[in-house]
Amino acid sequence: MAVSTVPTRPIAGQKPGTSGLRKKTRIFMEPGYLENYVQAIIEGVGGVKDREIVVGGDGRFYNDTAIGVILRMLAANGAKRAIVGRGGILSTPAASNLIRIRKAFGGFVLSASHNPGGPDEDFGLKFNVSNGGPAPEPITDAIFEATKTIATYAIVEEAAPSIETLGTFDLAGMVVEIVDPVADYVAMMRDLVDFDRIRALFASGFTLRFDAMSAVTGPYATAILEGELGAPKGTVVNGTPLPDFGHHHPDPNPVHAKELFDIMFGPDAPDMGAASDGDGDRNIVLGRGISVAPSDSLALLAANLHLAKGYTAGLKGIARSMPTSRAADRVAAKLGVGMYETPTGWKFFGNLLDAGKVTICGEESAGTGSDHVREKDGLWAILIWLDIVATRRQSIMEIVHDHWKTYGRDYYSRHDYEALPTDVADALFADLRASLATLPGKVFAGLLVTSADDFAYTDPTDGSVSSKQGVRIGFEDGSRAIFRLSGTGTEGATLRLYVELFEADPARHDLDSQMVLAGVLDAADAIAGIERRTGRDAPNVIT
Ligand code: G1P
Ligand code: ZN
Repeated sequence: MAVSTVPTRPIAGQKPGTSGLRKKTRIFMEPGYLENYVQAIIEGVGGVKDREIVVGGDGRFYNDTAIGVILRMLAANGAKRAIVGRGGILSTPAASNLIRIRKAFGGFVLSASHNPGGPDEDFGLKFNVSNGGPAPEPITDAIFEATKTIATYAIVEEAAPSIETLGTFDLAGMVVEIVDPVADYVAMMRDLVDFDRIRALFASGFTLRFDAMSAVTGPYATAILEGELGAPKGTVVNGTPLPDFGHHHPDPNPVHAKELFDIMFGPDAPDMGAASDGDGDRNIVLGRGISVAPSDSLALLAANLHLAKGYTAGLKGIARSMPTSRAADRVAAKLGVGMYETPTGWKFFGNLLDAGKVTICGEESAGTGSDHVREKDGLWAILIWLDIVATRRQSIMEIVHDHWKTYGRDYYSRHDYEALPTDVADALFADLRASLATLPGKVFAGLLVTSADDFAYTDPTDGSVSSKQGVRIGFEDGSRAIFRLSGTGTEGATLRLYVELFEADPARHDLDSQMVLAGVLDAADAIAGIERRTGRDAPNVIT
């Protein structure tokens, strides 16, 4: 084989975020940029000689070209086998599953998740390790170090084989195996949810609209919902993955999935609405006239998970990210199982899942998953919802209201201020952090502060400490406000403000969230001066 060792030098800006590297696509397309990061990953993970590596992505623009480069570099670095989803397609949870069932060394996952795709939009790449989850911090640190010292990268001169045809091919001594991206995922779901029960639900006339948002879940949802489960054709909409997601943000929130939300709150709403994001790890579930808040969805799935086929033995424990509402905590308390509060980002759940401490985890940002893989899994959550509906034979509205009646309702909202000047956001946080000790005992917009801290997490499995994970303010009425800076935005800084308030009284479970939370929102603004400092009188996105 002909290996080129190409001289290179560190390229600025390769600091990986929470989940690999996410940048504008044009940056990834600059000569040597992608190659540089791929070589840094290969070095950061200790080399790939004789290893088997999974490769796939969400199908966005540049996905196929980047996979060709990755394959040529894996071959040059001595990998034994690359297992690639046909067409370069693998949803993030499907990639996690493939790494696990093939006992691979790890996988390259190409995605910028819910960010838009295209030559002028976003691209991303991360490495998942042998448990199927994102590389843990010591490895991402080693990758980052490698980006700073890199001097050469290795690539074979041979062209990579086509990734459009199933089969096994040779690339300079490395086996390239092109696999069906959907089949193994379907097989896994068949073990976890009761396909017969859900088929009977659809046969009884139950209607669903699944919006794949022209992203990666289309083929998976079509195969399972319309294929295996007998839902009528047309149940899956926007089901063909497009390189630019049809010019949309593939993010299942009320702004970007507006059409779905409008339909679900309109006169012709089907029984259930659902959507996933660019790479298939997020989900949103709606009923006729109701959108299930992701924090509530986690609590509800946890409370009902034993009804689903793969979980009849019950739960070991529940984990949620810190800004996720405390609704799941009430379920854990009732079930008598462990409850874990982790920093934002899926990697913290991986250790808990590996240690067998939890069965289900979730985040307020529309991510839920279980111990079946080491990523959140959008379609999984939607199928579990279907299995629960098929068992209980109640509407989503009834199931949610029943849950609130039993546990009370945690009113919840997240306000995002996107693309802020970095210095403005940094100053806001610096001042907020500096004031924390002085806040308890003071009143802001009529609310007395009872606690204020900067969340730090000690991992119960390995003792590692993650500090500065978000500012938490507690108020006398039990409400809380959390301030965090996004780690995934690609433009300026994004401030996230999360607020919640518990309400036990069922007579007050049907109120408008923004109205209920107005008091704590005002207090948060009075404390941090968001409006005054940013000049914004409203957030860009409210979820
Ligand atoms: C966002 C979400 C977070 C999620 C991450 C990756 O990160 O808030 O829950 O884990 O995307 O999907 P953030 O931009 O807030 O750092
Ligand atoms: Zn995603």
